[in-house]
Amino acid sequence: MQHDHVLTAKQFSRADIETVLDRAAALDVRAREASSSEPGRNRSDDGARVGDRHAETLLGLLFFEPSTRTRMSFETAIKRLGGDVVDMGSVESSSVKKGETLADTVRVIEGYADALVLRHPSQGAAKMASEYVDVPVINAGDGAGHHPTQTLLDLYTIRERAGLDDLTIGIMGDLKYGRTVHSLAQALTRFDATQHFVSPESLALPPDVRYDLDEAGASVRSHTDLETILPELDMLYVTRIQRERFPDENEYRAIADAYGIGLETLERAKDDLSIMHPLPRVDEVDPAIDDTDHAAYFEQAHSGIPVRMALLDLLL
Ligand code: NCD
Repeated sequence: MQHDHVLTAKQFSRADIETVLDRAAALDVRAREASSSEPGRNRSDDGARVGDRHAETLLGLLFFEPSTRTRMSFETAIKRLGGDVVDMGSVESSSVKKGETLADTVRVIEGYADALVLRHPSQGAAKMASEYVDVPVINAGDGAGHHPTQTLLDLYTIRERAGLDDLTIGIMGDLKYGRTVHSLAQALTRFDATQHFVSPESLALPPDVRYDLDEAGASVRSHTDLETILPELDMLYVTRIQRERFPDENEYRAIADAYGIGLETLERAKDDLSIMHPLPRVDEVDPAIDDTDHAAYFEQAHSGIPVRMALLDLLL
């Protein structure tokens, strides 16, 4: 895999994706074996370490927006690879508070770290940052733009549950502001997948993403209602309405509860339908689903570790 930076899912070829997922699968098996054969032993001790290839590597974490999974799984991944992090910490406690520009911040931190993981509220921030530094920049979410590393772990889960070809997937919720959706939709064009988008019209895919899908010749359909399409789906990817990106809170409230699923919703679904969600969920997936075989979202979140280990190992 030859990339200087990881900015959007569009940059990944099918071969890139398969390379990352295969390596992640190998790391995942080793991690599982290490934890099951020696109960009580910390997994980071052996099985999951890739021979400490990255013992000197420091990953710079720059999170200008809240994050739990992405931030902690990048930190876990680099530590399992034998490296460590330098973390800018919260915006409140950094010089950003004094008015420092992103361009200056990344130019300083590239002197401390071997790669930068950036989450920022502005769309295009990671691309802009990549133009100022020589170390790899990994986009960990740029506003309502893209989230390509989330996509890699989403694809990992889809591959494990249903396979990436001959796939019928529903993608539901906030398709306008949901960056995980934009990246996932682009990456799925590399496979034989039919994508059914379910959202209110006001939260449909942005025109630029729609354009990319059309240009790639993707098989896509849009719906305002899950009912009609549900029985056909192998996977259903549910997203949170991105409240923080709405210019008008009333607009958010008007659609907030419209796209949730519960056990009763699944009565008409295939028995082996898997439900995914990038998390955090608010109330769009009823916790009653958690204990069913449909729920794939926690395993999806856990796959962030092997997938990000694989990505970092290949990139660095
Ligand atoms: C997502 C994000 O930040 O875009 N979270 C994540 O990284 N797993 C999804 C969301 O916030 O709704």
